[in-house]
Order: sequence, then structure tokens, then C-alpha cells
Amino acid sequence: MRLSIGIIASLLATATLASSNSRFFRRQTNVTGYAPKEGPLDTPWTDKVGTNPWPEYPRPQLQRSQWKSLNGVWRYQNASGLNEVDAPPFEVDLASPVLVPFCLESALSGVMGNWTIFSWYQTSFTVPSSWSSGNRVLLNFGAVDYEATVFVNRQKVGFHRGGYFGFTIDVTDYLSVNGTNEMLVFAHDPTDSGTWQIPIGKQTLEPSHIFYTPCSGIWQSVWLESAPANHITQLDLSADMDGKVNVNVHSSGNASTPVEVTIYEPHSTDVKATAKGNSGSAFEFTVDSPDLWSPDSPTLYNITIKMGSDTITSYTGFRTVSKAEIDGVMRPLLNGEFVFQFGTLDQGFWPDGIYTPPTREAMIYDLQVLKRVGYNMLRKHIKIEPALFYQAADEIGIMLIQDMPSMRPSIRDPNSTNACPPNVPVGQYASQLEFNRQLELMINQLKNYPSIVTWVIYNEGWGQERRAFYPEFGLMDLVRSIDPTRLINPVTGWHDHGAGDFHDNHHYANPQCGTPFYSVASTPYDPRRIAIQGEFGGVGQNVTEDHLWKVPAAVRDINQTYEIDETVEIWNYRSHILLTELLDQVKRFACSAAVWTQTTDVEGEVNGMLTYDRRVIRMDEEQWKNDIQALYDAAAERASGNHSMVMMPRDVAERLDGSQ
Ligand SMILES: *[C@@H]1O[C@H](CO)[C@@H](O)[C@H](O)[C@H]1NC(C)=O
Ligand SMILES: *[C@@H]1O[C@H](CO)[C@@H](O)[C@H](O)[C@H]1NC(C)=O
Ligand SMILES: *[C@@H]1O[C@H](CO)[C@@H](O)[C@H](O)[C@H]1NC(C)=O
Ligand SMILES: *[C@@H]1O[C@H](CO)[C@@H](O)[C@H](O)[C@H]1NC(C)=O
Ligand SMILES: *[C@@H]1O[C@H](CO)[C@@H](O)[C@H](O)[C@H]1NC(C)=O
Ligand SMILES: *[C@@H]1O[C@H](CO)[C@@H](O)[C@H](O)[C@H]1NC(C)=O
Ligand SMILES: *[C@@H]1O[C@H](CO)[C@@H](O)[C@H](O)[C@H]1NC(C)=O
Ligand SMILES: *[C@@H]1O[C@H](CO)[C@@H](O)[C@H](O)[C@H]1NC(C)=O
Ligand SMILES: *[C@@H]1O[C@H](CO)[C@@H](O)[C@H](O)[C@H]1NC(C)=O
Ligand SMILES: *[C@@H]1O[C@H](CO)[C@@H](O)[C@H](O)[C@H]1NC(C)=O
Repeated sequence: MRLSIGIIASLLATATLASSNSRFFRRQTNVTGYAPKEGPLDTPWTDKVGTNPWPEYPRPQLQRSQWKSLNGVWRYQNASGLNEVDAPPFEVDLASPVLVPFCLESALSGVMGNWTIFSWYQTSFTVPSSWSSGNRVLLNFGAVDYEATVFVNRQKVGFHRGGYFGFTIDVTDYLSVNGTNEMLVFAHDPTDSGTWQIPIGKQTLEPSHIFYTPCSGIWQSVWLESAPANHITQLDLSADMDGKVNVNVHSSGNASTPVEVTIYEPHSTDVKATAKGNSGSAFEFTVDSPDLWSPDSPTLYNITIKMGSDTITSYTGFRTVSKAEIDGVMRPLLNGEFVFQFGTLDQGFWPDGIYTPPTREAMIYDLQVLKRVGYNMLRKHIKIEPALFYQAADEIGIMLIQDMPSMRPSIRDPNSTNACPPNVPVGQYASQLEFNRQLELMINQLKNYPSIVTWVIYNEGWGQERRAFYPEFGLMDLVRSIDPTRLINPVTGWHDHGAGDFHDNHHYANPQCGTPFYSVASTPYDPRRIAIQGEFGGVGQNVTEDHLWKVPAAVRDINQTYEIDETVEIWNYRSHILLTELLDQVKRFACSAAVWTQTTDVEGEVNGMLTYDRRVIRMDEEQWKNDIQALYDAAAERASGNHSMVMMPRDVAERLDGSQ
């Protein structure tokens, strides 16, 4: 029989499809058998997580309509080492179920592992047939700690390093035409094992006192979305108090493609402003008299951006952060006015999810409690949160000081025969370069959120090279070059060499904020810079077992809390005394901002406004509200020229006299 060309073509097509079917048609990943582990402590939200966690669209400033969450039950298995990445366990069920996106160490993950340094994850997914044909399929990860190697249908599709950053992989070319796709993720997270020196914040493999359980693997949402071949990969957008909007749309094609921006009136479909430009280069336009963003009035504007056939939604707030000398004192300004910043040290740890809050509602609860008593700021302490956290701060109206996650304070020299070995100096070249790279990632990932007012580079010397050349000077310039719209606090606490916009003192329990007295670990107040008390308070109060992180090492270390108050009443009494002392410093000296340790208890640290499980609020809310309001009132009065209590260092006092 002679085959016509048409028949040959269709046989070939069938053969191709058949072979791709045998390669790509897979059974679904076995998702049965998941249950959360019984952890050392739960929260009121633990039972609400279910198996469809974090269903919200995860990236509100670059949002697409065709998307699908891949969060849920996947499979997991411990791996023995880095070499396993070369022999992925394709098409076999991994050992046990895991709930993505909860850290492997968390009870909610269903694994609750320890030393989970090398891990395999497995899931299967289909691409909705309703998605625009001809579009690309993008696979997004909110964050994987610390390195991720991703495989789709037996092919390696991407690698990412850095535990706090989102990444996107175009997987279109690796998908099955019509069927189930298998995905494997190999995660490597050394945390502080060996001599690894990487950004980890408070995570440690051997938790005690102020260092806590680590988070490994996938810990933020995973999702698919559909986008045209030439699509928006990054949006840089800032808006200031004069209505000036600066936009830079980055595209996958790198070509200059026409861009249309539409800004809507708040909670309305009415158009406030439109503008046109091209991708790949920044352009500016001005919006007429926008309502400004501030903690008292956190007005936001929704935005639509069209670039070629790609459409995304986003939002912004109009506000300007700056500094100026007001009545003899260098002050941080919001929209041209000095606003005293009072915040908590906010670590973002959860007993049930570790780095991953159990639900969005739980995450927002912390912010709402703080807002209710008048906090207008929080210092996001050496952790980077999911994008929805920043959106919540934007919406609720809380200014953020954002810390770069620190590297280990220092590495112990394993070769030392000294009983009390010296620390190996930090700042080795390779780890410094990687730290610098991740610092850039942080600024680029977070720079569009109006709530962030200040960047912090180093915390208390951790991972900070302390010999001259002092890297914080160069890093400050780097941050400023990426984001000129915010203040920078290069060194919060301890090893200050004069860089940046702030002079920052840490002192427990009582404050020394812009004062002419200071302690050994600090430096004298520097009137050229803004005075901030980057940490103080930290007074503790032990709780009954039902609110305690029931891990023996943590309970053992409770007595290392800076101060233990015997009852909640005494804790509130002590808080009032310390806030009164701060108030006095606001009136007499140069104090412009302060950070109280801390939002919640964390593991063996029992010094939160709330307990670790968020079930007990320690604060006497009326008292705290009054004490916090008194700080704002005193700062405003002081800045308006009431010198009746001023006791400044001589040079400042002389300048004040001159201005009278
Ligand atoms: C699915 O996994 C569960 C628990 O991990 C196991 O008990 C069950 O046998 C598995 N089912 C199949 C079909 O492999
Ligand atoms: C995982 O594997 C490592 C190294 O093989 C081992 O030290 C560790 O105990 C394992 N962890 C678990 C939870 O099995
Ligand atoms: C994929 O499946 C859908 C629905 O079952 C069908 O309409 C479509 O033609 C299929 N596409 C291909 C390329 O086989
Ligand atoms: C994990 O292992 C470390 C020892 O390396 C130990 O100190 C810690 O208590 C363990 N944590 C848990 C939850 O088992
Ligand atoms: C766009 O530029 C980036 C960075 O230079 C490069 O990695 C990428 O391959 C380019 N894409 C195209 C489609 O040219
Ligand atoms: C932005 O759009 C979302 C979705 O339509 C809506 O829920 C929200 O209220 C809008 N926000 C503002 C500030 O207009
Ligand atoms: C310890 O000694 C070994 C062998 O001399 C050397 O390779 C290693 O770098 C030393 N470690 C440190 C932290 O100095
Ligand atoms: C704190 O309370 C727990 C039990 O609630 C107890 O085991 C522990 O010894 C207490 N620690 C201190 C320092 O009071
Ligand atoms: C805390 O208690 C442990 C024993 O429970 C003890 O060894 C240690 O010295 C105490 N530390 C302080 C600072 O009191
Ligand atoms: C100035 O401050 C002092 C001390 O706080 C206060 O007693 C006085 O009423 C203030 N004066 C004015 C005009 O507000």
C-alpha cells in the first residue's frame, strides 16, 4: 500500500504524541496520608490551614489573571548529599507527604524535620486548558531556602540561590502537550552547618536563647501563570508626595515595547491618570493632587499596566521619605513632616509554621494588634516576608524598617585548641560577594512597597567585616544607587563607623536614644545623623506551659531573657517606666524613632507584646495606647520649638540658642 503524504504526516504525529505520552503522561502524585505533626506549640489558626494553604494570589504588585496555585500536599524525602541532584528520583513516589509551603521543620509541613539539609520535593500538575493558547507558562516560587534545583518532566529547568527571594521559570518548552506534568525540586539548605556563611537571620541548626529553629525548603507559595511570550518580568514603580510617578517596566524580550499605565481612584473604576512609555527605560509622569500615603491615612491606588499583549495589575501609594534638620535636630520626614516612628522588633516566627505564617489572617492579626495600640512602624528583623505581608502593611498603614537577613555573627574556628576558641573573622571575600548580591535582590524585590521607609544592612555586627575598609560605606552607595527614595541605616547597633542616615543604639532594657550618655558597646550620639533606638525594652514574663514553646533547650534558656517580670501587671508597670524614660529622651534629647523588643515571644524568649501562640496579649492596651500617643505628642511639640526640657550636647544646644 502506498501511503499518501497526509497519512504519513498523521502517523508521524501519532507516533510523536504516543512517545510524548509515554514520557509525559504520569499518574498524579500520591497526596494521601498528610497530617500536621504535633508540634511544641500551636496557634488559633493551626487547625484552619487544611490542605489548600495560602490560596491568595501571592504577588499583588505584579498580578496576572490566569494563574493556578500549586500549594498543597506534595511528596518529600530526605536526601543524603549534593550529589543526589545528579540522580533525581523520577516517577517514583517519594517517602512521605509534605504540605507546601510550610518549612520542613514546621509541624504544619507534616515532616517536622531536623537537619533537613538536602531534600527532594515532588508534585504533579496540569495546565488549565482554558489558558490562552500560544501563551507561555511561568512557574513561580515565592521563596525556597536556600538553593533550589527544579526539574519538570525529567528535565532540569532552573536553579536559584538565596532563601528569601522569589524566582520565575518559563517551563513552556518542558510541558506535556495535554496531561500531567511531574515536578521535582531539590533543596539544599546548609543554614549554619560547617563553615557556611550565608544570609540566614535568626535560623540555627542548634537553637538556643535568641537563635531559633531554622526553615528549610519551600516556604512561600508556588504557582503557575499564563503570560504572552513578551511579558513583564519586573516592575519598578515609585510615587512621591508631589504626585510624580516613576515607572520602569522590564520585559522578557528586552525589546522596547509600548507601555500604558492606568491609575484608578481608590476603590473605584474611575481613572485617576494614564501615561504611556516604553519598556526597558524609566519614564515619569505626574498625577494631580493624589491623597498621600501615611500611617494615619494609608491611601493606595490600584494600577493596570499593559505592555504589548501582557496586562498586569499593581498598586502604589504616594509618599516621600526624606530627612532634614528641624529645630536643631536631624529628623526623618514623611511627606515633608517629622513623624516620630515607634515600632516593635518584628521577627515573623510562628510556632506552627516557623517562617511561614499559618494563614494570611494570622499574619495580619499581629499587625492589627500593634496598630490598635498606636504603633506606626515595625522593624522587620533580619527576615524577608512574603509579598502579602508588605501589602498588608501598606493597607493597614505601618511604616517598615526592613533589615537585610544577616549572616552568622561569626564562625568558630574548628582548628583552635583553645578551650574557648576565638571566632574566625567574618567578611571572607566569597561570602561578602554573595551577601552583596542578595542585598541587591532584596532591594529590587521590595522597593515598590510604600510602607518601607528605611533599609538596614547589618544588625549588631553580625556577619559584618569590622576592619577598615568597613563594607557598609560601599553597600550604602549600592543600595542608594538602586533605590534613592529611602533612608538607609547601614549598621543597627554596635559597630558604627559613621555611615548612613542614622545613629543607632541598642540598649536593654532602658533606652539611650539620641542621648549624651551611652554604653560600652555603642558610640556617642552623632548629631549629624538621625537618632534611633534600634532596640530596647525586651522585658520578659514567663508563661504557663500551654503558651510555651515546649522544647527543653528553649525552656532552659528562658532565664537568659534580659529581665523577667513576675506577673503581667509587673510587666506592664515596667513597660510604662521604660516608655516614660523614652518619652523624657524625646523631650530632652534627639530621639526620633525607637524599636521595642518585641512583637511576640519567640521560642525561649518570653518578651513579646503577645505570647508566641498569639493567645495572650500581655499589653494593658489602654496604658500602652496612652504611653505611645505621649511619644508622638512630645515629638511634635519638641519639633515645633518647645525647648523647656532640652538638655542637648553643647554643640547642638548652641545651635538651638542661635535659632531662638
Ligand atoms: C499514598 O501514600 C500513603 C501515605 O504516605 C500510603 O499509605 C499509601 O499506600 C499511598 N498510596 C499509594 C496508592 O501508593
Ligand atoms: C537526613 O539525612 C541526613 C544526612 O543523610 C541525616 O543526618 C539526617 O538525620 C536525616 N534527617 C531525617 C529527618 O531523616
Ligand atoms: C488537549 O485537550 C483538550 C481538552 O481535552 C482538547 O480540546 C485539545 O484539543 C487537546 N490539545 C491537544 C494539543 O491535544
Ligand atoms: C535538632 O538537633 C539539634 C542538635 O543538632 C538539637 O539541639 C535540637 O534540639 C534538635 N531539635 C529538635 C526539634 O529535635
Ligand atoms: C534579556 O536580557 C537578560 C539579561 O541581560 C538575558 O538574560 C535574557 O536572555 C534576555 N532575553 C532575551 C529574550 O533576549
Ligand atoms: C484594588 O483592586 C482590588 C481588586 O479589584 C480591590 O479589592 C481593592 O479594593 C482595590 N484597592 C484600591 C485601593 O482601590
Ligand atoms: C583548619 O585547618 C585546615 C587544615 O589545615 C584548613 O584547611 C582549614 O581552612 C582550617 N579552618 C579554618 C576555619 O581556619
Ligand atoms: C518558665 O515556666 C516554665 C513552665 O511554665 C518552667 O518550666 C520554667 O522553669 C520557667 N522558667 C523560668 C526561668 O522561670
Ligand atoms: C539558667 O538556668 C540554668 C539551669 O536551668 C543554669 O544552668 C544557668 O546558669 C541559668 N542562667 C542564668 C543566666 O541564670
Ligand atoms: C513645653 O514643654 C513643657 C515640658 O514638657 C510643658 O510643661 C509646657 O507646657 C510646654 N509648653 C508649650 C507651650 O506647649
